[in-house]
Amino acid sequence: MSNLVSELLAKMTTEEKIGQLIQLTGDFFQDGKAAITGPINELAHLKLQTVYSVGSVLGVSGAADVRRIQENYLANNRLKIPLLFMADVVHGYQTIFPIPLGLGASFDPTVMETASGIAAKESVAAGLHVTFAPMVDLVRDPRWGRVMESTGEDSYLNSVMAQAAVKGFQGDSPWDEKHLAASVKHFAAYGAPEAGREYNTVDMSEWRFREQYLPAYSAAINAQAMLVMTSFNTLFGVPATQNQHLLRDILRDELGFHGVVITDWNAIEELVHHGTVRDLKDAAQKALAAGVDIDMMAFAYAEFLNKAVELEPGVLKLIDESAQRILELKETMGLFADPYRGLDESKEKDPEFIRDNLVQAQKAAEESLVLVKNHRRTLPLSQRQKLAVIGPVAQTGDLLGSWSWKGDVETTQSIADALVDTFSEIVTAPGCGYHSFNKQQVEQAKLLASDADVIVAAIGLPSSESGEATSITDISIPAEQIALLKELKTLNKPLISVVITGRPLLLKEVHTLSDAVLIGWFPGSKGAQAIANILSGKVEPSGRLPMTFPLNLGQVPLYYNAYSTGRPIEVGQKNGEYKYVTKYVDSSNEPLYPFGFGLGYGKILLTDMTMVSNSLKMNDQLILDVTLTNDSPRDSKTVLQCYTHQKVGETVRPLKELKWFKKVTVEKQSSLKIQVNIPVARLASVHQDFSTKVDVGDYQVMVGFDSMNLKVLDFKVKE
Ligand code: BGC
Repeated sequence: MSNLVSELLAKMTTEEKIGQLIQLTGDFFQDGKAAITGPINELAHLKLQTVYSVGSVLGVSGAADVRRIQENYLANNRLKIPLLFMADVVHGYQTIFPIPLGLGASFDPTVMETASGIAAKESVAAGLHVTFAPMVDLVRDPRWGRVMESTGEDSYLNSVMAQAAVKGFQGDSPWDEKHLAASVKHFAAYGAPEAGREYNTVDMSEWRFREQYLPAYSAAINAQAMLVMTSFNTLFGVPATQNQHLLRDILRDELGFHGVVITDWNAIEELVHHGTVRDLKDAAQKALAAGVDIDMMAFAYAEFLNKAVELEPGVLKLIDESAQRILELKETMGLFADPYRGLDESKEKDPEFIRDNLVQAQKAAEESLVLVKNHRRTLPLSQRQKLAVIGPVAQTGDLLGSWSWKGDVETTQSIADALVDTFSEIVTAPGCGYHSFNKQQVEQAKLLASDADVIVAAIGLPSSESGEATSITDISIPAEQIALLKELKTLNKPLISVVITGRPLLLKEVHTLSDAVLIGWFPGSKGAQAIANILSGKVEPSGRLPMTFPLNLGQVPLYYNAYSTGRPIEVGQKNGEYKYVTKYVDSSNEPLYPFGFGLGYGKILLTDMTMVSNSLKMNDQLILDVTLTNDSPRDSKTVLQCYTHQKVGETVRPLKELKWFKKVTVEKQSSLKIQVNIPVARLASVHQDFSTKVDVGDYQVMVGFDSMNLKVLDFKVKE
């Protein structure tokens, strides 16, 4: 412990230490001054002086507001301990990048790092010290609205992206004033609610949790993330926020996390609803015992305040430990040296400050868009073609997505406007609403489109339909929009669908009706321009799907890295036995678009692949020399992907698991040699006793451009 922290702790009263453990919203500071008003009147028992002892504030940003609150707070706080300001800066502060699912689709960690770095820089100027990001929850069920905030269904991709995000937000130590602290969330397994229903039960074996869900949190912690946020859900039968096994044994002891643990919003009070505590006081005690340092808006730790003199030594010790961790975070962030660290009103208002950031946001969007169909090279379009841009998403700036902190939908360029800048002639009309359709509107759109060379249908869902608390049971494109596509199809012109979405949707009909389909996600502040650049061919599409797109809802959850079963469909096919194999009788097992899938405009082929050695020791690397050839007349980009499979394990093994990927450009009419290096250590799996180790034995490596079409080579791992 530093001198500063130990001296402070020695001077602090128990009440002051408890104060550090409480986080309030900015509503408790009106015009900078402590206030208990409005919808939080029921908290009138909280004394004003308590507000002047809390440790942190959430949801306030903006240099002037933060300065005002901090000044007033310090004038009223006995020991002049500065407040920490935290907020959900998830995929951008002012400059909005694609949603995290889109950043995952870039398959390029430098894109994530840059996006997070820029978000940090803008946030710090606005007075923030901590972001509640990255969310690294593994997701497999598109009914869950928060899949938009994750980087997808794969542990390895999530881990690589988690590390990149933490690096981007936090920078390299020592801390400078361009970075802020990352709070990894939601610990743990929040992304696996049963039936995709928000806040529902999560239950899985600890073995599976460790195999697939834990790695991304662990990667973020290895990258030195300063905070961890607990999740709302239960895990192993106990809510995460009071789960000692999760928060003490796994997080602190095994993963070696020494930073601050914060709850999710009101999560301690929710323990009462979970029925695992008697009342708020019991909830507070259990959360503290589990090692939760900061109570976000549950007013549970405030329960200790009036009873400070009665608190048992064990509880006091836990309060001391938590207060110490929070003070250490403040010290590391440089807040004792400068409570106004980094905040800068002039930068905040300076358009120059964000100009370059917008360039990066556009680049990130270009890297994240996924072309999933391009029949007879409908795309790219010629800039001389006349475009009809039709659909409910054509003329809206609602392209930022949920958690777009200061992003402004009103000033965000629409797809139609961006296309105007790129193509010589365009006409545009909505054709229908997101969920509404009338004959007159569609006829008007058809009339306009009848004169065009090509139709771009901008379809999808509004941002309000993905994000927190937006679970849905039907992941189809709304029937009204399908009706619009069918009407447009009657015009017999090339039809390109651009789908704006925060989650995988059922796109079978869209696929059938369209000549080309581009998944746009919510692409952010410069997303419309990125879409225009992809459609015109100025930029090569290079995003790949970070989540499987199912064929029908009944297949959900559908993900590529499923475990082996006792009755694989392939064995049935070989034996002529189709009934008693793992399958549906009314649907194929296969998705519409698999994980890792995406097309480019050029044609890159894997023309050669050799393994340097097919017999490896534990400390070796699996080395592959791969040749990619692009015979097409344009430079092209792809994502080379390597998966492995362990043929015999102590536990069942996934049929394939991503272990390596790289986005590469292959110039026209040329070949590129790439060396793939996979450390044998990366083949480790979780055993029945939860040890994580590599087994000797037979393995396969599979190489290709998506998770389904792969070239296979065998190798062995020896002692
Ligand atoms: C969300 C968190 C978020 C918090 C604070 C909660 O509802 O689950 O992800 O960080 O609110 O805004």
